[in-house]
Amino acid sequence: MSADASADAFRRAFGHPPAGVWAAPGRVNLIGEYTDVNEGFVLPFALPHAVRAAAAPRDDGLLRLHRGDDARTGWLELSGADLRPGHTEGWAAYPAGVLWALREAGHDLGGADLRIDGEVPQGAGLSSSAALECAVALALTEAAGLALSRQEIARICRRAENDFVGVPCGIMDQTASACCVTGHALFLDTRDLARRHVPLDLAGAGLRLLVVDTRVKHALADGAYAKRRAGCEAGARALGVRALRDVPHDRLGDALDRLPDADARALVRHVVTENERVRRVVAHLDAGDVRAVGPLLTAGHASLRDDFRVSCPELDLAVAVANSSGALGARMTGAGFGGSVVALVESERAAAVERAVADAFAAAGFARPRVFPVVAGPGARREA
Ligand code: GLA
Repeated sequence: MSADASADAFRRAFGHPPAGVWAAPGRVNLIGEYTDVNEGFVLPFALPHAVRAAAAPRDDGLLRLHRGDDARTGWLELSGADLRPGHTEGWAAYPAGVLWALREAGHDLGGADLRIDGEVPQGAGLSSSAALECAVALALTEAAGLALSRQEIARICRRAENDFVGVPCGIMDQTASACCVTGHALFLDTRDLARRHVPLDLAGAGLRLLVVDTRVKHALADGAYAKRRAGCEAGARALGVRALRDVPHDRLGDALDRLPDADARALVRHVVTENERVRRVVAHLDAGDVRAVGPLLTAGHASLRDDFRVSCPELDLAVAVANSSGALGARMTGAGFGGSVVALVESERAAAVERAVADAFAAAGFARPRVFPVVAGPGARREA
């Protein structure tokens, strides 16, 4: 849906025009999984797919929400206790949480009418939640005449997700949605939030990055994510470091020897090697050698599958078949337990890889995957 169509839909829903239309993208994480909860490095880029929020401020403190794919004609109306943690669930918790987090950060905001449209596939590991949060945060602040930095928008959105929605995620997805720029991946140090835009010109190199959405829905809130995170924190404590980020790659062997059991060793090994893979991928991109990234993607997948144990049969099959049918490398992206794979392929091999993955899924009795190419799109912005 275009920004104009969004504004028209807002007018039909609420009977008055919006103050503006804002959009924020989902993301693909090229590499650096579960490193953001260990103060490490990540390398996401923004999807061309975005969530759009048309908004008008209200001075009575009410938050009225209307969603594009909502069959009901009316809106949801939140006020008072609904806008405090623990009282609102489902998709409305994201916009409500953002308004709560903005107020908690000291921004004197009234209410708003908000209409939401989304193109980011949900539950696909592509950060539809962060896109929703960032679109709403930009809409609520800019419609009220406030100008927050992109980093502050990301911080507030993460707070909403952690403390209102209740998902203990890191800062990667919200920073990607708020801060990415077209044609670049975002090299982010999640300890000090230093960031650098790294050129990612796939087409110029004759390459494509395919997303394979397995359609296996992941639910981050189900405890597995929190369990991995707690395991990493326990590993850091056992090693006497602030976070696993502080374990140097060239001292990994020593660190593993000091850990109590195989489970702890596997978690630590993943995080330490993954940080190293992010650095290597960045070095290859800086050198203009995009093809060299392929094997690092596949190595990252093996580490998430065997050590971190957040993959699933559908993700593993997509990676294996993409690679055996000509991809330069492939890996799951995002938190795992379902969701999507990214595969780096020569442009002329893209159709063959797509067909091979679809055939293998059919033969395995899995649902038909959704496969589409992505390029690095723009971060959050005002559209109208
Ligand atoms: C989810 C979280 C991120 C990050 C990834 C795993 O996307 O929201 O903060 O931890 O999982 O890398």
